[in-house]
Amino acid sequence: MPTTAEQAAQTAAATPAPWARSGRKAAIAQGFDLVAHEYGTGSGGFFTTLGTRLAAAAGLRRGDRVLDLGCGRGAVLFAAAEAVGPDGYAAGIDLSPAMVHATADEAARRGLRNVAVRVGDAEDPGFPAHSFEAVLAGLMMFITPDPDAALAAVRRVLVPGGRFAMSTFGPAEPGWAEALDAALAFQDPPPAGAPTTVKGGNGRFDTVDGITGTLAAAGFTEVATVEGEHVARIDADQWWASAWASGRRAALERIPADRREEARRAAFAVVERLYVDGVLTRRTTVRITTATGPATAEPVASGGG
Ligand SMILES: C[S@@+](CC[C@H](N)C(=O)[O-])C[C@H]1O[C@@H](n2cnc3c(N)ncnc32)[C@H](O)[C@@H]1O
Repeated sequence: MPTTAEQAAQTAAATPAPWARSGRKAAIAQGFDLVAHEYGTGSGGFFTTLGTRLAAAAGLRRGDRVLDLGCGRGAVLFAAAEAVGPDGYAAGIDLSPAMVHATADEAARRGLRNVAVRVGDAEDPGFPAHSFEAVLAGLMMFITPDPDAALAAVRRVLVPGGRFAMSTFGPAEPGWAEALDAALAFQDPPPAGAPTTVKGGNGRFDTVDGITGTLAAAGFTEVATVEGEHVARIDADQWWASAWASGRRAALERIPADRREEARRAAFAVVERLYVDGVLTRRTTVRITTATGPATAEPVASGGG
């Protein structure tokens, strides 16, 4: 198994993953590969704070086995590993090989022996049925092309009565979305229009009712959502760096290199208006949803998860 992101990228190029045939998943993997090494830069600790909150909301116990879907750089995974302790473990999967290898390197650097990370698809994670006390999904359910398939897989891999916890974004702060759109208007070809859903994701996860209905239809009970706000004092340069280190990177890369400075200036002209008494604050609304899987073991067709 390759150990560095560079080796991972070479391996990925040599042996295309099964979902390489699926354009959207390949685009997700490529988009997050681009930012794996700097993911979260300039976010004011947003991902680690939310990851810790998500793991706490799942009510993890010492010794639990936890699966983290779309583990990215491990914001949720490492918090889960700490919560379950040395007698439990946290397994993380992600479509992006570069994310996986950077996170595996980080787990090794921290000396964590209860963490395993591999490239995998949340819609077909490939773990045996009933093999986790809890499944977590930080900021990924609205990204994956078929969230119903992912939720069916969650139900399968959970032990009876197991817990599921996921996070999503609430409504975007209008000024910041406008600033980013001002830059993205420079993309070539130009964007068809500003996204009509939060972060351009699956609109079902934009409202609490949509989330509750989706999880209930997938067979989960005790579905509850708590909304919170992450507040970060940042400056315009930090915000710009954070946009380039986020899932929006692929879209920003579509701005021709010789127009990027112009795009940045257009975005900063909007940001200028967001200062209040000389202070720039970014408020991100986030939602954490917890739910319980089926109380009894479901029949398993072929042992897949
Ligand atoms: C916004 S990032 C969040 C990363 C991490 N969970 C966190 O909270 O910091 C979303 C991650 O989900 C991954 N992802 C999206 N769809 C996926 C799928 N079907 N299977 C596995 N990973 C997926 C992306 O590659 C990306 O790394």
